[in-house]
Amino acid sequence: MGERRSTVERLAPTGVRRMELEEALELRTNWRHACHALLYAPDPGLLFRRIPLRYAVLMQMRFDGRLGFPGGFVNFPDSSLEDGLNRELSEELGQAVAAFRVERADYRSSYASAESSGPRVVAHFYAKRLTLEQLTAVERGAPLAQDHGLEVLGLVRVPLYTLQDGVSGLPAFLENTFIGTAREQLLEALQELGLLESGSVIRP
Ligand code: GTP
Ligand code: MN
Ligand code: MN
Ligand code: MN
Ligand code: MN
Ligand code: MN
Repeated sequence: MGERRSTVERLAPTGVRRMELEEALELRTNWRHACHALLYAPDPGLLFRRIPLRYAVLMQMRFDGRLGFPGGFVNFPDSSLEDGLNRELSEELGQAVAAFRVERADYRSSYASAESSGPRVVAHFYAKRLTLEQLTAVERGAPLAQDHGLEVLGLVRVPLYTLQDGVSGLPAFLENTFIGTAREQLLEALQELGLLESGSVIRP
């Protein structure tokens, strides 16, 4: 656990620090809090009838051309992190998110970024396990969401497999450009939730 965390810390962009939730919640004056969520579900599907998908994991293409997770700025401490997160999820993903609620139990990590110029943001990350039916309902409803075509250009599923060439699949996906620490959050969740094939290695 300690070793894995230090790997992620080394991955994080400069000016970014991972911290415990308790410490992160002390950041008040001049800090904005944001919350994002990885939604996933077990998926028995087979690509080309032979490659197990294992799980469906959602990310989104953002207005700025970068990949990230649904979620956004929350009004902490006036309201709870989770109230803000669930509001952002309904703005960005639409009505299907009313079927579940992301809770404190789904919390995974916090990253604070304070570059000398620019706003001070602490990004809290959650991962929520859904049924495949719930996740598919989110995908179907997303084009009807308030922010669709504006802040959110579309949902994407993350390929968790690596094909024979050793590049196609997850390694190629990770070559995309990600917002903030979204790439670190993704890798961390895939590893810690056991969403990858046993024995598969991801090179940061
Ligand atoms: P507005 O409604 O336009 O304010 O956007 P929003 O509330 O949806 O905010 P957004 O999701 O863009 O994220 C708020 C902050 O978190 C920004 O500083 C982003 O750079 C950052 N951010 C966005 N997505 C992610 C993500 O998936 N992971 C991390 N770590 N940070 C993110
Ligand atoms: Mn085809
Ligand atoms: Mn938003
Ligand atoms: Mn957002
Ligand atoms: Mn917002
Ligand atoms: Mn908005």
